[in-house]
Formats: sequence, C-alpha cells, structure tokens
Amino acid sequence: MITSSVVSIGPVSLWTDEQVVEYRELTEAVYPPRTAADWPGRKLEWSQAEMGVRVVDPSGWLVSYVGVLTREGTLDTAPVTIGGIGGVKTHPDARGLGYAALGMRRATEWFHEQHGVDFGLLVCEPGLMSYYENLGWVVFNGVLLTTQGAATVEFTFNRVMTQTIGRPAPVTGIIDLSGPPW
Ligand SMILES: CC(C)(COP(=O)(O)OP(=O)(O)OC[C@H]1O[C@@H](n2cnc3c(N)ncnc32)[C@H](O)[C@@H]1OP(=O)(O)O)[C@@H](O)C(=O)NCCC(=O)NCCS
Repeated sequence: MITSSVVSIGPVSLWTDEQVVEYRELTEAVYPPRTAADWPGRKLEWSQAEMGVRVVDPSGWLVSYVGVLTREGTLDTAPVTIGGIGGVKTHPDARGLGYAALGMRRATEWFHEQHGVDFGLLVCEPGLMSYYENLGWVVFNGVLLTTQGAATVEFTFNRVMTQTIGRPAPVTGIIDLSGPPW
C-alpha cells in the first residue's frame, strides 16, 4: 500500500553499497542499457544530483527516485538559488500508484526547508508537462542558459518547468544555470 511506503531524502554520497545497487537496478529497469545508449541526451553534459529522494514500498523495494540539487544561478541577471529536480523515475511494475508524486512532494518540501531556495526547475519531454503541472509546476517560456564545456549555450533539448518556492515561479525571462542542466 502506497500509504505505508517510506519516503526519505539524503545525500547521494552517503548511500550504502546496497542503496547504490538498488538505484542501479531501478535505473536499468526504467532505461534498459540498450535503449539508453540511443538516448540523444547522452551527447549533453548533465549535472548529477546531490540529494536523492528514495521511495521504498512496504516490502523494502526501491520503487521510485527523485534527484535533487541546488544551484546558484541568475534570473534576468539577478542572483537566485534554484532548486533542481532530475532523474525522476518509477519502476515499470510500480507505475500509476502515486510513487513519483510522493517523491516529488518530498523534494519540494526539502526546497522549502532549505530557506533560501527561490524556485524549483526541471526539464522534461513535452508529454510529461501535464503530469508536472498536476504537481504544481508551471511552464517556463523564457530562455534557459546552461554551460556545456566552457561555453554558455541555450538549452533547447527539452521543455523547462518551474515551481514557486521562496518567490513565484518564473514563466518568462532569462534563467542562467551557471552550469550544466540536470
Ligand atoms: C513519469 C514517471 C516517473 C511517473 O511515475 P509514477 O510513479 O507512475 O507516477 P505517479 O503514480 O505519481 O503518477 C502517475 C500519473 O502520471 C501519468 N504519467 C505517467 N507517465 C506519463 C507520461 N510519460 N506522460 C504523461 N503522463 C504520464 C499517468 O498517466 C498517471 O496519471 P493519473 O494519476 O492521472 O492516472 C514514470 O512513468 C517513469 O519513470 N517514466 C520513465 C522515466 C521518465 O520519463 N521520467 C521523467 C523524466 S523528466
């Protein structure tokens, strides 16, 4: 039952060996290595999550995961602290039960707990925008600047969504992540 699942957040660097293996198994179930090799996004440089939200079902199985980080960037050249979400995934056998939603809510709570996060930001395929909208995210129609190698480049690979945290979610303007996307 989803109500008795356990949702936790902690630094990825402190995962136990067992947790690392569980995460790898989940990732391979969601992105089988043969299809993952063809993913066009592999050509981009991505940032890794610092914190991980783990959603474990009552039997102890890692069913869903949300990667979380914070980043000092700018919005229309003014400094902002951005709460990043990436790597959202639920095991194919555990989908549609609200597990990812539980993980996403914990990530948002964590941003509020950090006192200083201005807004959340994630990137996703167009088909997932309505899913995130149902969780309180809004479409960002401005320009997203990222770093690839030494260059600053506009991010156009996926759609961009933001979420209100300490200040209203921006829907337009120029956000500079001052680093690779996530
Ligand atoms: C997207 C994903 C994380 C959702 O996980 P989940 O635990 O099944 O999500 P929830 O149970 O919280 O929500 C399920 C809802 O999402 C919807 N949904 C799931 N995948 C969707 C998709 N690709 N496009 C649109 N809606 C989707 C379902 O229709 C369902 O809607 P309902 O609640 O109205 O029935 C999961 O489908 C997944 O791992 N997909 C592959 C990896 C991926 O695309 N991750 C997102 C990267 S941005």
